[in-house]
Amino acid sequence: MSLQIQANVSLKPFNTFGVDVSARWFAEAHTDAHIREALAYAKERDVKLLVIGGGSNLLLTRDVEALVLRMASRGIRIIHEDCSTAVIEAEAGEPWHPFVQEMLARGLSGLENLSLIPGTVGAAPMQNIGAYGVELKDVFDSLIALDRQTGQTQVFSLADCAFGYRDSVFKHQTGRWLILRVRFRLSYAAELHLDYGPVRQRLLEQGIKEPTPIHVSRAICAIRSEKLPDPAVLGNAGSFFKNPLVPAELAARIREAHPGVVAFPQADGQVKLAAGWLIEQAGWKGLRDGDAGVHDLQSLVLVNYGGASGGDLLNLAKRIQADVRERFGVSLEMEPNLY
Ligand code: EPU
Repeated sequence: MSLQIQANVSLKPFNTFGVDVSARWFAEAHTDAHIREALAYAKERDVKLLVIGGGSNLLLTRDVEALVLRMASRGIRIIHEDCSTAVIEAEAGEPWHPFVQEMLARGLSGLENLSLIPGTVGAAPMQNIGAYGVELKDVFDSLIALDRQTGQTQVFSLADCAFGYRDSVFKHQTGRWLILRVRFRLSYAAELHLDYGPVRQRLLEQGIKEPTPIHVSRAICAIRSEKLPDPAVLGNAGSFFKNPLVPAELAARIREAHPGVVAFPQADGQVKLAAGWLIEQAGWKGLRDGDAGVHDLQSLVLVNYGGASGGDLLNLAKRIQADVRERFGVSLEMEPNLY
């Protein structure tokens, strides 16, 4: 079936903040052919194309005068397999957490620490998703992307993607690459990462001395559910700010005034500060302004109590940034993509 394009569609169900703006045109791409149709449609009419996955890292501040294309392609296949490893390819539209669960059910480990992250497979490399000591780059093999300028597909190796902390080449070349499918290098011989935060402790409390990847996944789901709001219940986009990297001198000055500061020295001499701690110290935790608020259990997460607009959430974010800058001399960078 050819691409179905609808006019004036509410995007409320398609962004996890639950912000109600409308798209001038909207379509769902199930195949590569659909994507090419959407590109041709946008070119013919001279309209912009906004590609979205799960809408879980997106703040919409106005109606979208463009064709919004939601990636809905599905499919998981084995590319290569031996006794200990497998390279698995997944289509961009595969929802992330069910994909992780499917891999674990097949006995493949590597993705367990990334359990319960909202969004889709195709969006994961954009910001090199990460949690509990593992980032996408640690299990990444390669990806196939479409160059929107030339219509050609291109294979990206790990090095080509230039992954960093919540960063990749795709974040810097916005609008150029459309990720079609991603390949992961997973393992039948589990190599678990239990050293981040409360993971090991949680497993021990449950009496699990020799955890399997499935145990780790369950523990991480439980830890996340305790602190992070479920977007189906309370609109949010996960962490709204990145944890800032600051020079060691600034970190030392902050520690003098605030001995409790949560800080992680990096190999390059810089120090990563917990943005959630800074925001909490500045008094924003649990604060609510109309329907826009700061989550009461995790200050890094902004929430929509129902009727907040993207502008309301953005204003709140800017007030937090200004306050943290004034108190600590630290600039917080927003994590979601703004439209
Ligand atoms: N903290 C506070 N107050 C808060 C929040 C955090 O003092 O309101 C302190 C915590 O006590 C802890 C430290 O800050 O000592 C770090 O907190 P946490 O372990 O919860 O992690 P995070 O730095 O807040 C990052 C990621 C999350 C990821 C977790 C676990 C970023 C921007 N966020 O959060 O990712 O799940 O680590 O690995 O790097 C996301 O990107 O959407 C996301 C949820």
